[in-house]
Amino acid sequence: MTGLVPNARSHLIEASATLAISATAAKLKAAGLDVVSLGAGEPDFPTPEPIAQAGIEAIEQGNYRYTAAAGTPALRQAGTEWLKSAFGLEYDKSEVMVCAGAKAALHMGLTAIVEPGDAILLLAPYWVSYPTLVTLAGGTPIIVEANPGRSFVHDAETIEAAAKKHNAKGIIANFPNNPSGAVPSRDDVHALVDLCIRNDMWIVSDEIYSTLLYDDAQHVSPASIPGGRDRTITVAGFTKSHTLTGWRTSFMAAPKDIIDTAARLQSQVLGNPCTISQAAMLKACQQPMPEEHQRRMAAFTERRNFLVEELNKVPGISLATPRGSFYALIDIRPICETRKITDIEACTQILDQHYLALVPGSAFGIPGFVRASYAADMDSLKKAVERITAWASNS
Ligand SMILES: Cc1ncc(COP(=O)(O)O)c(C=O)c1O
Repeated sequence: MTGLVPNARSHLIEASATLAISATAAKLKAAGLDVVSLGAGEPDFPTPEPIAQAGIEAIEQGNYRYTAAAGTPALRQAGTEWLKSAFGLEYDKSEVMVCAGAKAALHMGLTAIVEPGDAILLLAPYWVSYPTLVTLAGGTPIIVEANPGRSFVHDAETIEAAAKKHNAKGIIANFPNNPSGAVPSRDDVHALVDLCIRNDMWIVSDEIYSTLLYDDAQHVSPASIPGGRDRTITVAGFTKSHTLTGWRTSFMAAPKDIIDTAARLQSQVLGNPCTISQAAMLKACQQPMPEEHQRRMAAFTERRNFLVEELNKVPGISLATPRGSFYALIDIRPICETRKITDIEACTQILDQHYLALVPGSAFGIPGFVRASYAADMDSLKKAVERITAWASNS
């Protein structure tokens, strides 16, 4: 016994709810049970071959040494071109850096702007890691309650009231949204930027799902709105669209002094993002693959439509049509109320009794809902609907 323990601050770091569910599901699977896991947010398609090949070539050509902390000049340049062609964003190479995934970019960005105790608004439903990332940066997460009645897109008045009440220093916006699939209109993004200008707030814009859009939904980056660019940290990349999940890559675009600060931080804690992965990301920038993208979106659309149609037939359950990303945020409030259970208890029942892994809405600040990822094949989704139906009809 040494008496040595992790420090007090370490208790502020929560374990990821989605990873915990996936781990339980994996355990049940390993025990031989037919578990359907819709917990993880990872596309079921492989990394496109040309991108994977670029990584292989990097190794074969000895391109695996340290790079500059902010990424290779070629990739930073390619990043500025991709941000412009994909989202109309005008950045200089010095305003774009490469990070080891969107998560790392959010951490670097928040660490560069948050002063101790700063209030940072999180719009529920929010991605599970935001509260901890804000806390780690020294800030105080302030949750703005979800607005299911407005398709999970907050009105500017509500956000501004919270900003004033808490004297907020910034806001994290995530559209298309995980877990709701919400995509705001251009007017809503405009109103968000305007209120941030009025209240002199930062916008940390997590746009990791920005190319995963359905029907007529369009992605509008806050940095593309007049007055937005100078107060926005844009985080984007190919993690979800091109299955660069395990490669750990992303772009952060922001005013130069923020990028310089984040690059200094990155140089101290990481050195540089993986050199081989940077070669793969460069390929993703240089070789747009419209057919591959269409093929993926067609599959996601079929799955989304299936879930919307089938789940809305189940008494006590409803699902608003997601407009982006690959998540279904399923409203089970009527069943929770009748049975006097929480969404967490509901997820435990669904996993233990029906072998279906879903994530409780509470993890995203929206109790009474559960999230299903439809980055899964149709057979799994059909089983999932059968199992949710069986759970819902068990009285
Ligand atoms: C909204 C959101 N932001 C960031 C991330 C993390 O992405 P990355 O794997 O690039 O770190 C995820 C992954 O699930 C996400 O859903």
